[in-house]
Amino acid sequence: MAEATSRGIGTVILLGSPGAGKGTQAKKIVERYRIPQISTGDLLRENVQRGTPLGLAAKDVMSRGGLVPDDLMYDMVAQRLRNEDCQRGFILDGFPRNPAQAGWLDAFLENEFFEKGQGEPCLPIVIRINVDYNKLLRRITGRRSCPVCGRIYNVYSQPPRVADRCDVDGSALVTRDDDREEVIRDRLAAYELQTKPVAEYYARKGRLVSVDGDLPVNEVTEQIFRVIESQRGVPGGDK
Ligand code: AP5
Repeated sequence: MAEATSRGIGTVILLGSPGAGKGTQAKKIVERYRIPQISTGDLLRENVQRGTPLGLAAKDVMSRGGLVPDDLMYDMVAQRLRNEDCQRGFILDGFPRNPAQAGWLDAFLENEFFEKGQGEPCLPIVIRINVDYNKLLRRITGRRSCPVCGRIYNVYSQPPRVADRCDVDGSALVTRDDDREEVIRDRLAAYELQTKPVAEYYARKGRLVSVDGDLPVNEVTEQIFRVIESQRGVPGGDK
């Protein structure tokens, strides 16, 4: 089997503002490299829906567009990354979201993956999806998703074949609670203030690569695959 597929591609971190296309692109990476997508937003929403203590603690802050406290995030992310399916690599979508989380992640990867010899001692691939600020509102207000398979649509740019129904399983599509205009503005503000410095954190370490997220979905995907394969080798290739 190809080296990049048999050994996995390690950690891929997707950065970008709300609506930049992290979730959309993460699903493409999952399909190609067979590693799981760890979306902290999805994990939190599942907890809110199930009414767990974490969900109860996170619900209000999420509905206001703020960030859930770091300690709660660390427990949730550590538990998820210790699952067997993450040993060959994983895509982080929505984490880290401030410089403290980025420092925590570096320490976690060092202690739990590299030192114990689980996985390759390779540094994360950090990809920032850049999108023009003025396009974000339309992307987010137009988003619909399938509650069953998680597929993401957009009523303007990626509509389902049948209005409001998932192409894959026919489920009724839903709008996220925090995709309301007043909350979106607070999410974008939280991104500017708290999450933008994460890109600077990785840029200082020489790990940040940016892609043009204003292009159509498949063209963004091609750029991302090129970044991954320039750093880890091509599935089926011998790099
Ligand atoms: P989270 O779920 O992570 O939301 P987010 O970061 O705001 O990102 P989005 O899911 O809105 O956007 P996306 O980049 O995934 O875009 P998508 O692919 O869907 O977080 C939600 C909340 O959870 C946070 O506000 C916070 O409270 C909490 N939280 C999560 N992680 C946390 C953490 N680490 N610490 C603390 N709190 C945390 O695309 C958007 C739309 O655009 C879709 O309709 C799509 O079809 C369309 N689209 C995508 N790409 C393109 C394209 N190239 N061209 C045209 N349309 C496109």
